[in-house]
Amino acid sequence: MKVTVSRKAYFNAAHRLYIKQWSDEKNLNIFGKCSNPNFHGHNYEIIVHVKGKVDELTGMVIDLKYLKQIIKHEIEDLLDHKNLNLEIKYFKEVVPTAENICIFIWNTLRKKIDKNKHLSVTLFETPRNFVKYSGN
Ligand code: NI
Repeated sequence: MKVTVSRKAYFNAAHRLYIKQWSDEKNLNIFGKCSNPNFHGHNYEIIVHVKGKVDELTGMVIDLKYLKQIIKHEIEDLLDHKNLNLEIKYFKEVVPTAENICIFIWNTLRKKIDKNKHLSVTLFETPRNFVKYSGN
């Protein structure tokens, strides 16, 4: 029997969505307010879902203490109160959209979670706008 275990976490971060080669006007047309040259912040919320077999002995899919710990160390400690464009190496080359932040989080956590468990990450940029990545 497979069950999905989920854990929520939060971080605040600033970003700017823009393509270097484009004018401010074109960036504004494509990215809207998120292209503000002076940056702006979001209260991001993530939900990490781990699906796998319930261990017969422990009754657990994954130790939630461990899941909590890796989300804190690998994601919150790295991204919370940061300017994603300026302070996170990955986003020097990659536009920090919700999509790309979600992929980044998934790739980071994937390395820390048992390969026989399925991982997906949901990232809320606002209460109404959210994305989900499950690999591929
Ligand atoms: Ni934004």
